[in-house]
Amino acid sequence: MTSPERDELLRAPLFHTPRNPFLEDRALVSHEDGGLLIRNGRIAASGDFETIRAAHPEAITTDLRGGFLLPGLIDTHVHFPQLRVLGGLGRTLLDWLDVCALPEEARMSDESYAREIASAFVHALASHGTTTALVFGAHFAAATAALFEAGRASGLRIASGLVMSDRQLHPELHQTPEAAYRDCKDLIRCFHGRGRLLYAVTPRFALSASEAMLEVCQTLRQEHDGLLFQTHLNENPQEIAEVARLFPWASDYLAVYERYGLGGGGAVMAHNVHPTASEFDRLAAEGTTIAHCPCSNAALGSGLFALKRHLKAGVRVALGTDVGGGTGFGMLKEALQAYLLQRVAPEGAMLDAAQMLYLATRAGAEALGLENETGDFQTGKSADLVYIRPPANTPLAAVLERADTSEQALAAIFTLAGSESVCEVRVEGSIVHKGSIVYK
Ligand code: GUN
Ligand code: ZN
Repeated sequence: MTSPERDELLRAPLFHTPRNPFLEDRALVSHEDGGLLIRNGRIAASGDFETIRAAHPEAITTDLRGGFLLPGLIDTHVHFPQLRVLGGLGRTLLDWLDVCALPEEARMSDESYAREIASAFVHALASHGTTTALVFGAHFAAATAALFEAGRASGLRIASGLVMSDRQLHPELHQTPEAAYRDCKDLIRCFHGRGRLLYAVTPRFALSASEAMLEVCQTLRQEHDGLLFQTHLNENPQEIAEVARLFPWASDYLAVYERYGLGGGGAVMAHNVHPTASEFDRLAAEGTTIAHCPCSNAALGSGLFALKRHLKAGVRVALGTDVGGGTGFGMLKEALQAYLLQRVAPEGAMLDAAQMLYLATRAGAEALGLENETGDFQTGKSADLVYIRPPANTPLAAVLERADTSEQALAAIFTLAGSESVCEVRVEGSIVHKGSIVYK
């Protein structure tokens, strides 16, 4: 008989946002000498170290002072086949797709190449502290299965799906709606709800999906419980004009998806940089989440995101890196970029560290319907965490030594912590990544 695992008590300063800091004051919970009690992969307590230790003297303490504990980061928009097109600067969306992204995505027809990229992709997520991601798969079923398999092997929480397109892209990426339906059914059967994997119905965007293909998306969502949905919305003016030409009956871009019931809880639409007033209201009413991808919006020149208007209208917003239109896998960097662009946007929001943390963690969990499982350190949730510890002699280490308040420390982490500062990453209490830097 195996003996039950002993409780583990992690000791380090910790931060989390169990409440929404856009709606409530003092939503940031921080403990300078924090404790996180892990029992069978779940959080049994979080708070002040001494208090938790007094209540659980039997727990084994792991002393992580010198670093900081944050909830595992959640990326709500990222493309696995685009790992190798990162850095394709100097283009706008349709041109970038044509020249940079789509030729690389066509290479995913080679299953062994897809496996190699999938494995590098999940490693990149984990090494940046991301524990949960909503991922665009490939246009090929075998490559999308390779991503799920890599996700399973990594221990990360991965939601993904076959990318569905039957027009307007490079023809080798097109599939008939019938073939897409069959492939999706197989992938759902193999992967949806298995361990930490979830399936997301994934039409690339309205521009590359016929009405028949969108109908298949609707059917899949009706036939299976708990599927997620992901696509793109209102990213670029040329794209929007083309969607208007292809769907003359639609009053705006969102109306195309609405006709097929493709919104609501569990639906994530990336970008929404150029929405109409009516679209704000309808997104809010439906509960659809917008994945805000500020690095991508700047790199592709898509525009400035109207964060304040989204929040005011009550639209849910989370963050995505949009690799490879974006600039990398770092969700801390993505939150910083959101802050920076809001500083220069006309009528931009002034984000504080609590709001940045919420956007990079709990907001993503809410978007994916996983808010009872991950996204913060409340008792009962899965122990999904990233341990940030700056290497010695780095600017971050120097700043953190001086930080007077926990908000200052958190803001410094967002500003300066890259993957070199990601020391350990856990999902359900188990280590899924360990940084390579050795600390004294
Ligand atoms: N719209 C359709 N496909 C894509 C993509 O791969 N990246 C981005 N940023 N927008 C898209
Ligand atoms: Zn995208």
